[in-house]
Amino acid sequence: MATGLPLPPWPGGNTIALTDLEEESRRPERLDRLPPRLLPVLYFAFGHICLGLAFLAMALTPETLAGFFYHSRILAVVHLVTLGWISASILGALYIIAPMAFRMQIPARKLDYAAFAMFVMGVTGMVSHFWLDSYNGMVWSALAVIAGLAIFAARIVPPLVASKLPPAVKLHIGLAFFNILLAGIVGALLGIEKLMINVLPGQQITNVYAHAHLAALGWATMMVIGAGYRLFPMFLPAAMPAGPRLYVSAVLLEAGALGLFATLMLQSRWVILFVVLTIAGLLAFAAQVVWMKRHPRSAPKAMQRPDFGMLHNMQALAYLGLSVVLGLALAIAPPLEWKLRAAAAYGVLGLVGFLSQMVVGMSARLWPMFSWTHSFVGSGFAVPPPTPHVMPDRRLQAVTFLLWVACVPLLAAGLYFPDVTLVRASAWGLFIAVIAETLNSARVLRFAFGYRKKKQLTTQDGG
Ligand code: HEM
Repeated sequence: MATGLPLPPWPGGNTIALTDLEEESRRPERLDRLPPRLLPVLYFAFGHICLGLAFLAMALTPETLAGFFYHSRILAVVHLVTLGWISASILGALYIIAPMAFRMQIPARKLDYAAFAMFVMGVTGMVSHFWLDSYNGMVWSALAVIAGLAIFAARIVPPLVASKLPPAVKLHIGLAFFNILLAGIVGALLGIEKLMINVLPGQQITNVYAHAHLAALGWATMMVIGAGYRLFPMFLPAAMPAGPRLYVSAVLLEAGALGLFATLMLQSRWVILFVVLTIAGLLAFAAQVVWMKRHPRSAPKAMQRPDFGMLHNMQALAYLGLSVVLGLALAIAPPLEWKLRAAAAYGVLGLVGFLSQMVVGMSARLWPMFSWTHSFVGSGFAVPPPTPHVMPDRRLQAVTFLLWVACVPLLAAGLYFPDVTLVRASAWGLFIAVIAETLNSARVLRFAFGYRKKKQLTTQDGG
């Protein structure tokens, strides 16, 4: 029996019939197809606090952060963004994407909460010890982060392998977890080096570049591409790319990221080969996005235009292109003073403009779907919630988007020149963007926690 309710689009671009969902929910054992309700929200809440703190630190102390990019205060801010926002959001989103886009289940068990606690404690410890320039505490905290990531990987890899997901997509996600564990271990060893205990070959600064590229390309970018092959078609909406061509980005990007990692550590001239392989891997993904754009699917009537989530994603991909061009220039140009300043701008384009903004774009579409599902199931299918497309506040979305448009280039320019006023102004702008986006997420999430008419079902959180 179709009820004609406005339902969110599911993988394959088709709207799942209510009867299927209703049918599923009447069979209690299918409830674990629903995403856990609390744990993803906890990861994202931690992520928002970290991103807000990163921009607040830049706005309040731009003098200490502008100029040469390699010092402990910048390291603290960099890991608030990379571990706090980007990585925490990836981990939280996986609990939602797995049942909704990967057709696999990762119910939140005690071990998942333990992994969350280890990760949050570790990241908080790392950031505060970086800020205090105390590497002893940083290393111990790093071990907690690595333990949290390892538990998460152990929880997700078995269902990933068993899932019906295309093997090429599985490969991206599996490689991403391998790379973050390796990058994390090298990160901890970099900290031990700072305690004057020699554990790594090569020079500290090039080892830091090696760690940073393996983490940013091998973990975050690899995950964006793997999940992107499922989420972009759902959100555009478009046809789902499939087949062996999806392996190309995984193989090239992995060869590029691992090769960059090794050649940067060994300061080898072969680094340029792996820069080229990395770019080829990114272009392979870009080609699939173009293919999706050329194979559109009909959008739900309720979909609002402009779609701010997709605008963030497209802007993020443009920043990926810009950071590739600047990264290439930094790799081939002779050692000159401008490179030291350009390295900070390169970090902003890649870590803020691309990766951090991609999280903003994807969550703008994920949370309404998540809230819609929990609200409808939670009410025992008694109270159909409003369609996910009208849950967010469009004005808050517009403010968030315009602040990202204006402030990311200003922040990159502020760190390049360096110009303290530009850094301060753009950091305040991005801080306000985080507040606006947080308010909007809370507005959307109230549907997931507010609407429970009939206590028919137990939820996934054991709550
Ligand atoms: C468990 C995880 C991690 C640990 C233990 C770790 C540890 C470190 C350490 C110790 C340094 C600097 C060492 C020094 O002072 O020489 C560093 C630098 C850096 N890390 Fe990480 N890191 C981790 C995860 C990540 C992730 C996920 C990313 C990116 C996605 C990242 C990006 C960077 C960047 C860009 C730098 C250089 C920053 C600068 O020079 O300003 N790290 N990391």
